[in-house]
Order: sequence, then C-alpha cells, then structure tokens
Amino acid sequence: MKLRIDGGRILDLVDGSLTSASLLVDDQSGLIEAIGDVSLPADRVLTLHNEVLLPGFIDVHVHLRDPGFEDKETIATGARAAAAGGFTQIACMPNTNPPLDEPGVLKYVRDQAEAAGASQVLPIAAITKSQKGGELTDFAALKEAGAVALSDDGKGVQNGALMLAALEAAAKAGLPVAIHAEDESLSGKGVLNKAAAKRLGLPEIPGAAESAMIARDILLAAETGAHLHVCHVSVESAVALVRWAKQRGVRITAEVTPHHLLLTDDIITRDDAVYKVNPPLRGERDRLACLEGFLDGTLDVVATDHAPHTQGEKEQGIAAAPFGMVGIETVFPLLYTYLVLPGLMSLRDLTLRMSTQPAQAFSLRGGVIRVGGVADITAVDLEQERVIDPAGFYSKGHNTPFAGWPATGFSSATISRGKLIHTSEGVELSE
Ligand code: DOR
Ligand code: ZN
Repeated sequence: MKLRIDGGRILDLVDGSLTSASLLVDDQSGLIEAIGDVSLPADRVLTLHNEVLLPGFIDVHVHLRDPGFEDKETIATGARAAAAGGFTQIACMPNTNPPLDEPGVLKYVRDQAEAAGASQVLPIAAITKSQKGGELTDFAALKEAGAVALSDDGKGVQNGALMLAALEAAAKAGLPVAIHAEDESLSGKGVLNKAAAKRLGLPEIPGAAESAMIARDILLAAETGAHLHVCHVSVESAVALVRWAKQRGVRITAEVTPHHLLLTDDIITRDDAVYKVNPPLRGERDRLACLEGFLDGTLDVVATDHAPHTQGEKEQGIAAAPFGMVGIETVFPLLYTYLVLPGLMSLRDLTLRMSTQPAQAFSLRGGVIRVGGVADITAVDLEQERVIDPAGFYSKGHNTPFAGWPATGFSSATISRGKLIHTSEGVELSE
C-alpha cells in the first residue's frame, strides 16, 4: 500500500529551510519511495494543511509499566500516546515487574508493541538481575532479544566495581549503558531540591548525588571504551562533567528532560506530588546550565522520562507519592513554544535533538527524511494553539505539571515504517 502525503513542508536538516513537497511512502518496504509532487501515483492520499514534515521523534527514555503496573500504563497505551506526540520510536526502561532482565520478558514487550501497531517500542534491558545492583544480566543474550541499551533506571548502580564490570561487558556486547546517576548515600530519603525541600520541610536530594556518580562513571567509561549515556541531567556540575568528558574524547552522550529545561523548584509552593520527579526540579542556575548545554549540544538529546502514575498514587502528597511525570504527548509543543518561538533555538536544532541525535546515539534507523530512508515521519502543525489538557491524553498517566499551559506544534499525523499510526481531527485521508 502506497501512501502519498500532500500539503506538507519538509524541513532541511542542514540549513533549516522548508520546502513544499509530497512524500510517497510504502508500508511494505517501510521506506520513503519518492519525494515529489501530487502527480506521484498512490493508493491513498493524506492531505495536510501546511504542516511541517519532520523525521519521526525518538524518545530514548520512557516508562511503559508493562508488565506489572498496567493500571499506570500499558505498552499499547504508551505506544499510542507516543504516536500522538509525534514519536515513531521509543525506548522503554526495564523497571517493570518482572523487570526486563531476561530475553523472555523482552519478547513479551516486542510482541505487545507489534500488536499495538503504534510507535515502535525498543526495550532497554536491566544492567543487574532484578535491578538489585548485585549481579550482571546476560548482555549478549539481551542484545540478541532486541535490547538497544542497558539501564537500571530508577536507581543508580551503587557499587563502582560492578559498574566497571558492566561497562566492560557492555563494550564487548556493543550496547550503550544509560545511567540513572544517583548516589544513594547522598540522596537517602530525599524527595526535593534544596530550596523546595526547605520550604516544605521535606528531605533534600542534593545535586552532588547526581554529579558524583556521573564523575565516577565517566572515569570508568574512559577506562573501558564503553558508550556511557547519561540520563536526565539536571544540575550545573553534571553538565560541566559531560562537557569535560566530551572534550577528553570519552564516548558519552547525555539527555535532558523537558521539565528540567522549562521548570525550577520555585514552582513547588505546596504539597503537590505532580512536581515530584527524580532527579528533582532544580534551581534557576541549574536550569540555565541545562539549557546552555542543550543549546551547545553537550546534552545531545531530549528524553521525556515519561513516567505515568495513577491519580491515587499522586494524591498521596510529595513525601509518599512515587517520582515521575508524563511527557510524551507534550514535549514537542512545549519545547517548540517555549524555546523555538522565543528565538532561543531553531526548529532544526530541536529536530536534531528529538530525532536525528537520538537515532545516532542509540544506533537506530530514522532521524532523517530522504528517499530510500525509513518512512518514520511526523507532521507537525505549527499554527494551531491548544491548551494542554491531560483529559485528552492517550496515556493512562495524567501526571503532568504542564496542564493549562498554552502550546502550539501538536502532531497532525505520524507515520511509522510507512504506516499511518496517528492522525488528529481535520486530517483528510482519501482512498
Ligand atoms: O521520576 C522518575 N520516575 N525518575 C526515575 O528515575 C524513575 C521514574 C519512574 O519509574 O517512575
Ligand atoms: Zn526514567
């Protein structure tokens, strides 16, 4: 089945220009077969209204909660939410129950994703068995079962010697190690950044809990030649460490979340767990350092750390509620509205950080629109403004701190491997 997409403008990833053109994609080959005009013969035609065509977004850090916590999210609801957010590929973290620590569970994830027929779901396997930090999993077997990276996300690997062994084995297996950097001897029972913690009389997670472990792992990655991927960088010292490691030629990539780019702990003036996330929202100095690192490319990719929780869990208050916020359906509109529109960054650079660079960092297909390339595309409407309303989410998780924020840049249509996986109202499809 050949689908032609008319009425869009393709973003040039080299010079940032936009060119009106039709795209012809095929769901058998999964490839972009031609870039031309409305004369390209097709079985179906999708008619857009001046949307921008971007390579499908890729999120290398989401939590799908399945198996084990399906009341928070399932692979199907998460993959559909991702498609609605313009994502064609998402990498899911292993902190499920059972965790993604053996090939059988990875197969389950891939089968569920296949059945959902939405965004492609790429499993990230656990570094340690049951994510207990004691014994390494079988990296080669997990890679064979489809793992695109290794992580114990949700927790840091506390033991340095074990991390060294993990990096050695990961280098051998050819998988990146995505670290949740948190030294628990420093973070303890902490829940918030210093200022907010003081304000609400709750325990603190100091920035050093994050940067101390990043420093350790940079040194270990340099020893082993492994690819270290630093998850959710949130503090100034962590940005500086990643920048230093890159200058020294360490194989390192890093991500930043939309919430650490747009929010600070100043927003936490009452006991509302919608703001509880790990690492916590930091101060303005840290936020600006993350933004600077994001703009100069030190932080290569945006990742949402999409972390759905039930309303009941989040109603327990900051001390008791679980950490995490959803983000997959709102990240592009938020960053487009609050970074690109005010002139802080270009649409091209945002696209590189949300598609091209995640593909490169995790050795995935996609990240570019070209004839013969994979047909993973998102059509974004840069004109229509909407107010973010969790009631309209495809995700089961409604725990976003951005509810009520106006934004533009929502996805009108998403195509994965040549198949239409999402359309919003008003998009015409003719046979
Ligand atoms: O806020 C977070 N939520 N941070 C993490 O590291 C884990 C995640 C989750 O699984 O909910
Ligand atoms: Zn996470």
